Amino acid sequence: LLKAITTADGSCTLYSSEYGEHYHNIKDGALNESLSKHIVPAFSYFETFPDSINILDICFGLGYNTLATLYYVKQHAIDAKINIFSPELNRDLINNLATFEYPSEFTPFKPIIQELAKSYRYENSELTVEVCIGDAREYIRQFSDRFDIVYQDAFSAKKNRALWSLEYFKDIRRALKDNAIITTYSIASNVRYTMHLNGLYLYEHIASNTKRSTYATTIKRVGYSEIDMGKKLQNNPSLHPIIDS
Ligand SMILES: C[S@@+](CC[C@H](N)C(=O)[O-])C[C@H]1O[C@@H](n2cnc3c(N)ncnc32)[C@H](O)[C@@H]1O
Repeated sequence: LLKAITTADGSCTLYSSEYGEHYHNIKDGALNESLSKHIVPAFSYFETFPDSINILDICFGLGYNTLATLYYVKQHAIDAKINIFSPELNRDLINNLATFEYPSEFTPFKPIIQELAKSYRYENSELTVEVCIGDAREYIRQFSDRFDIVYQDAFSAKKNRALWSLEYFKDIRRALKDNAIITTYSIASNVRYTMHLNGLYLYEHIASNTKRSTYATTIKRVGYSEIDMGKKLQNNPSLHPIIDS
């Protein structure tokens, strides 16, 4: 059974003793964080949606980002096929998801959670979700020009370096479509710099109800708070990218 921890908005998360971190920011709230730092900035980015939206969810964990996407798409009656691809190392976690106490917003998706916990895949005419048990680094190498949206939600770069490095983001960059967005809770300068070195444009996202966060795009956006990496480097010449160890 998964030992739930209640966060600020009443939704539950987990603590990983392996990584020494929670799955979500306790003060922001699990559901609130997922919506405000990932789903809202990602879906607000597009003026029009393609017929199908391909999303890479790094990594599945409790599946908040996938489930909050389904919640948002339903709430906003977004008329697009949603395809979510999500690697996850922890098979036991996925197998036990049906026992986890999710917020009531996710109640309509209970059959999806049950199916994913059993067979790692769910499909109907509007939706595909694929959870791939294994290493995200290997998983992402198979894609090029595939994703509109990437939720970058690994544990912190200090604890989960392999999912924040220059080499990792090079593979992510190749997997993006021409017009794509990556959302992340991280506001660390070295994370932003590492993404910048892969040719991405970096922006600060301010939400009223969470800590600030970051998103990166393949196309430069005018009129938004772009992070000036040149200036950051001038102010901090010891800024280095994160590289594979
Ligand atoms: C911060 S949690 C993800 C939170 C998730 N978005 C949610 O809503 O619960 C990070 C997840 O990444 C997984 N993980 C860490 N390194 C990985 C790797 N190399 N490949 C696949 N999964 C990995 C961990 O098992 C953990 O479930």
